[in-house]
Amino acid sequence: MIVVVAALKGGVGKTTTSVYLAAAAASGRRSVELIDADPQASAADWWEAANDGDLAGVSLVEAPTERLLAKAVGALGPDDVAIIDTPPGQERLLGKALDRADVVVLPTRVGGVETPRMEAVLEMVPADVPVGLVIASARTYTRDYQDAVAAWAEQGVRVWGTVPERVSIAAGPRSSLSFDGFLAYRDIWRRAQRAARNR
Ligand SMILES: Nc1ncnc2c1ncn2[C@@H]1O[C@H](COP(=O)(O)OP(=O)(O)OP(=O)(O)O)[C@@H](O)[C@H]1O
Ligand SMILES: [Mg+2]
Repeated sequence: MIVVVAALKGGVGKTTTSVYLAAAAASGRRSVELIDADPQASAADWWEAANDGDLAGVSLVEAPTERLLAKAVGALGPDDVAIIDTPPGQERLLGKALDRADVVVLPTRVGGVETPRMEAVLEMVPADVPVGLVIASARTYTRDYQDAVAAWAEQGVRVWGTVPERVSIAAGPRSSLSFDGFLAYRDIWRRAQRAARNR
């Protein structure tokens, strides 16, 4: 099962989502491959710095070009689970990843400027591939948040989960995985898995 964590916009939570989803997937006793398709290598850096245990069962492959990405995906077995972290603003590479996806997770933040670029990504996802939003770093008590969720529901975009804004998540590789974050992403992982199975 190939999960692509996709967004064209930078800094929306792609890498955070990829790492936590990989941890959540691996906690279900599967071995998981985290494929870092971003030349910035932030997922790779995180994986290297991670505390013992946090990413147990997660292996890492750096694949920051179309060729390397195709190779990494081609090497997967039929029962493997892979989470692909993608770079911002690289439409071609993102397109290649999306073409191989069984399920797409789209991190976004609440705020007006996000929507058009998010829609551009939604249009790039092949028609038969399920896609769900993750609202990253959310302030769930705000009016903006509630309005955004209502607007997406109206447009028929599925929201698979909301991850609250947490200092412990913002610490990234400088801290152990946040328990709150892990629980939120575990639910998202379950939804993504279910959507991929029902495809
Ligand atoms: N739930 C959260 N609470 C607090 N901070 C968060 C949360 N999720 C993400 N962040 C922070 O938001 C910033 C951007 O997140 P991240 O690096 O995952 O985004 P990205 O989309 O991968 O960025 P890039 O486009 O540069 O690859 C980081 O500083 C990260 O720690
Ligand atoms: Mg990133």
